[in-house]
Amino acid sequence: MASSIKILPQYIANRIAAGEVVGRPEAVVKELIENAIDAKAENISLRIKEAGKSLIRIIDDGTGMDEDDALMCFQRHSTSKISSADDLENITTLGFRGEALASISAVSQVELRTRTASGEMGVMIKNHGSEIIECSPVSDSQVSKGTSITVKNLFFNTPARRNFLKTNQTEFKHIYDTFIRLAIANPTVAFNFVNEDEEIFDLKSTDLKDRIMQIYGEEFSNTLIEVNLQNDLISLNGFTSKPSFTKKIKQDQLLFLNKRYVISKSISYAVHLAYEDLIEKGDYPTFFLFLKLDPRKFDVNVHPSKLEVKFEDERSIFGFVRKAVWQALDKNDLIVGINLDDDKTSQVSQPATEAKIFSSAGFTKPANPNVSIPFEKKANVNIHEIYQRDNFVQPGSGVKELPLEVPEPHTQTSAKTYKHDIDDFSGKKSIWQFQRKYIMYQLENTLMIIDQHAAHERILYEQAVDRLNSNANLSQQLLIPIYVDLNAVDFEVVKSIETELRALGFDIEVLSKKKVKIRGIPSDVRIGDEAKIIQEIVDEFKENDVKLNLEKRDNLAKSYACKHAIRTGDRLNADEMLNLIDKLFSTKMPYVCPHGRPTIVKVSMDELDKKFARTGF
Ligand SMILES: Nc1ncnc2c1ncn2[C@@H]1O[C@H](COP(=O)(O)OP(=O)(O)O)[C@@H](O)[C@H]1O
Ligand SMILES: [Mg+2]
Repeated sequence: MASSIKILPQYIANRIAAGEVVGRPEAVVKELIENAIDAKAENISLRIKEAGKSLIRIIDDGTGMDEDDALMCFQRHSTSKISSADDLENITTLGFRGEALASISAVSQVELRTRTASGEMGVMIKNHGSEIIECSPVSDSQVSKGTSITVKNLFFNTPARRNFLKTNQTEFKHIYDTFIRLAIANPTVAFNFVNEDEEIFDLKSTDLKDRIMQIYGEEFSNTLIEVNLQNDLISLNGFTSKPSFTKKIKQDQLLFLNKRYVISKSISYAVHLAYEDLIEKGDYPTFFLFLKLDPRKFDVNVHPSKLEVKFEDERSIFGFVRKAVWQALDKNDLIVGINLDDDKTSQVSQPATEAKIFSSAGFTKPANPNVSIPFEKKANVNIHEIYQRDNFVQPGSGVKELPLEVPEPHTQTSAKTYKHDIDDFSGKKSIWQFQRKYIMYQLENTLMIIDQHAAHERILYEQAVDRLNSNANLSQQLLIPIYVDLNAVDFEVVKSIETELRALGFDIEVLSKKKVKIRGIPSDVRIGDEAKIIQEIVDEFKENDVKLNLEKRDNLAKSYACKHAIRTGDRLNADEMLNLIDKLFSTKMPYVCPHGRPTIVKVSMDELDKKFARTGF
């Protein structure tokens, strides 16, 4: 009996393999641009029609190929990038499997033109469905140094796959995302992108910050702060958003591992944790971060279309990333500036995003995204310089080390080294309270506006965290204990946080019958508030628990701070205001309240001058 097992002919094997490598037009774009980058191209142009379904053309000015290589590159497992098993451990190129061109040509009609710098003639090869139908020399004038690959009629011979493709709009979006990732990862490479006959991007060679600006617009790039940290084994650099510009959705979180775009839930989370307490729950930072690691420390040898990476030592990378972002946030002036030119100051609008680009039926060019971002960084005042504050506490590198933010007590001098600039000519203090809500005062040539409640909340929150961490149990004894009656639910809450309440300074005893006896309170609780404050803290704690799902001690610290802080409507005298500002600037993170809202905004002299149409005097 004849054997029923056969080796598949190459073209069928390629077609099957193509299903894995080339899922959609975007994959072709990715593979071909990556090849161009691996070939050290300085200029890459991409042109597509019908979202890549009918045409994808990529032209590069890289090394090019001679005729032998050009014929060879269509073979499966043909690659110039590795030659031994050892090389697999040390991959520095984007490609290495030698599968892309074989797969792409198996399911489309490819025309390749290529010429090396030393080659007098170039070569043109037509490969339709894994079959080379033409191979001819081409003269200098027909092909410049580099490679041009045209991919027509993708999936022409696999109609089932073709039918699986989504609408042009969806397929275009995939290509667009991939293009952006590649363009961001390779800012020194110039890219051009033409869709149908419309130029979507024309990006000149530049650096990362400028590349982000080319793509997302200037205003958006002003909302970013630089990240840069390295040790002997790892480095992380790039940009991340200022806390006030975080978004409700996790888009534009671009992580690159050795310049390759990857997805890592753990790293994204590490970045997010660095913002903990600076942003509201449900907000996400935008970032463009480049992690560099020894290739032996992670596994990229996953499926080409899979972007998730596995790290050998995830824990220490996690800690490193968190620390790097932390330091970046720490170094920056996070005070929100008011742009008086814009009336919609209460709302921070989204930067130019694809959402905007794709909302219209057609595809429009986002080259000059006209985005309005009323809160903008105008780094006229660097609060760190002015206040000469100590450096912030460095977070530890362990994942579990910092479930609750641990502010280190600041040295007394740190907050005292600045001079209030508040005496006017008559010697009167130029600090005042506006609507019993905001404190206005002058700092050099900037008008600072402080939200009294938010500022006090920040101070109290950090105090509470300190106390919880040190288990200080410092309380001020009451002459006569107070008894508070609670309902059954609240009673259970108090029981569950009894130890923590004590650490905060509430000397309480939980009695039966839903009664709580208060023998002492934190020294700064206002007289008369003793009975109320426990109930208020419990109410806030419950609400946070449901809404924000906070860690217990963090929740308690926030609830305490919120309920005990100075309120809108509380009158403050000049000394109290100054005292509040002093204390605020000796906190670890003076710029935001524990819920992530700003505590301070500033109006610069420049802004005012502009508003009054003053120039140069
Ligand atoms: N644009 C290009 N310029 C120069 N050489 C290229 C280009 N594209 C492909 N090649 C050559 O063809 C080979 C096969 O490409 P590919 O199938 O993508 O596999 P891989 O990139 O994994 O090596 C590459 O290793 C490279 O030598
Ligand atoms: Mg490749």
